[in-house]
Amino acid sequence: LQISPFVAGLPKVELHIHIEGTLQPALRWKLAKRNNIPLRFKDKEYKTYDELLESYLVTYNHRPEMGGRKDVPTFLEAYFAGCEVLMTEVDFYELAMDYLKRCKEMNVRYAEPFFDIQAHTRRGVPAEHVLNGYLRAQRDAAAQYGVRSNWIFCFIRDEPVEDGEAAYELALPWARRPGGKGLFHAVGLASNAYERPPNLFAGGFARAKRDGLHTTTHCDFGQKDTHEHIRQALFDVGVERIDHGLDVLDRPELVAGLADRGVGLTLCPHAYHRRTATEVLFPKLRQLLDQGVQFCINSDDPVYMHDVWIDGNMEKAYRYGGLSKTEMVQLARNAVDMCWADEQVKQKIY
Ligand code: ADE
Ligand code: ZN
Repeated sequence: LQISPFVAGLPKVELHIHIEGTLQPALRWKLAKRNNIPLRFKDKEYKTYDELLESYLVTYNHRPEMGGRKDVPTFLEAYFAGCEVLMTEVDFYELAMDYLKRCKEMNVRYAEPFFDIQAHTRRGVPAEHVLNGYLRAQRDAAAQYGVRSNWIFCFIRDEPVEDGEAAYELALPWARRPGGKGLFHAVGLASNAYERPPNLFAGGFARAKRDGLHTTTHCDFGQKDTHEHIRQALFDVGVERIDHGLDVLDRPELVAGLADRGVGLTLCPHAYHRRTATEVLFPKLRQLLDQGVQFCINSDDPVYMHDVWIDGNMEKAYRYGGLSKTEMVQLARNAVDMCWADEQVKQKIY
């Protein structure tokens, strides 16, 4: 996918990116050696770098529940398998610096990356390794690359609610609030949404709001019960943004609810394009524009999604969505409007 000079040159803000989904195979390989951790999925070990690279090709969006292969990881299994090499503060620092450096190269001026503490604490990694690594990268990338970031803590929704709340408690000293270290300013909800609606986490979200943090939740495109998840997110939990949420188009009351509450969608077109025909998917962007839905374009998990980053996602919207340059600029501006940076920072990005 060739990135056009127009898309490459657009000043960008990224609001939907999982930092663990940016772990590139080369760094994963290096960390596996450094930490003496085998690279494997179930009983299959990746013994050479080529075998590791090949694993990224077979993972892409096969669906065992639809009768697909069972011997290769699903998307989320591959993502969490990748996490296994991350152990020390320096590992998390390098991961984050790699992404933020790439931001500079893609003209991403500001980002709000998600992070999954529980993916690491459940393997015995101390939360402070994760948080201090990201905190140091946040500061160094702002100074060295001019790329600012405010991060988003995610509850892992297919783990027990109490585990998420315990992880939040551990992370809270790193929040951006009076007396806090300033790493993250919001709470989100990610991982497998099957039978795990947002309302299960209402207590955790309420707590985050009391702590002065922003809120968002994933409502995956095409997910079972997606309309009910969006309804809960909007009207019960009352989040400020929705990650994905493209299924609102089926329900006028959900489209109206977004507008009433000033909630926008962080979309990731390539993530849907992996399993949706071009002529079905991309007209939806036009429909959203026509219906006045606020949304922006993001990448989700670029390394596990064919190495398509935010610029590639924008290129797809531009090319297949038939959007004009003016509309593309509007989408880039939407991300500035939807972000939770301080006003002075927003002014600089504009
Ligand atoms: N966590 C990391 N990537 C995710 C995705 N694409 N969907 C849901 N949860 C995730
Ligand atoms: Zn996501």
